[in-house]
Amino acid sequence: MLAFIGGTGLTRMDNLRIIRRQAISTRFGDPSAAVVEGELDGQNVLFLARHGDPHVLLPHQVNYRANMTALKEAGATAIVAVNAVGGITAQAPTGALVLPDQIIDYTWGREMTLFDDPAEPLVHVDFSWPFDSALRNGLKEKLAASELKWNDGGCYAATQGPRLETAAEIIRLERDGCDIVGMTGMPEAVLARELALPYAMLSLVVNPAAGKSSHEITMAEIEAVIHDGMANVCRVLTDFAGG
Ligand code: HPA
Repeated sequence: MLAFIGGTGLTRMDNLRIIRRQAISTRFGDPSAAVVEGELDGQNVLFLARHGDPHVLLPHQVNYRANMTALKEAGATAIVAVNAVGGITAQAPTGALVLPDQIIDYTWGREMTLFDDPAEPLVHVDFSWPFDSALRNGLKEKLAASELKWNDGGCYAATQGPRLETAAEIIRLERDGCDIVGMTGMPEAVLARELALPYAMLSLVVNPAAGKSSHEITMAEIEAVIHDGMANVCRVLTDFAGG
């Protein structure tokens, strides 16, 4: 079953016809919210609000291990994760959707592996290509058929937050080859790989990253973009779920 993880601005999908909510407890603790099973365009899907419902958890407070384990236990076989990001390069203008194909992890101090039991065999998972190409191709098809501004590929910088970056940090991320910056891509993406769950990200650019515009980044500016942007994301996900 396809699962969606909703980020900032996507705590619920209004067009999801809810079948049941599962409060799942995992060996890593509780996920951010109940795992919702519902029907979307004739297909059963799972939905999890990454920051809780209502949105209360900051990116570094999210129990990513519990979230991913709970989705697997609920029957997820593939995951599309949605996130709000800052745009660094010309490939990522505000309001556009980006389907990243690479990720660099700048987070620290987060629980970033499921292999913490010395009694279990340790696996160094291959993570050369963090995002599943079949999921990305499916999303690309839907984006190409839409009127939306979107970009195929891009490198996602996962930063620790919750503060936004300095202008110098963004210059460094750009030098590193990053196109977009967000706070939740890791360890989520690698945990999906450890669970052998195909995973792709659909990122909405909600602001120019620090130093990329002449004005201060405000929550009001971000929220204005999120309102219409996440409605677009919902349409793409619904199309995608329908096949
Ligand atoms: N930086 C990091 N995370 C973000 C940003 C940003 O500019 N915008 C939305 N999430």
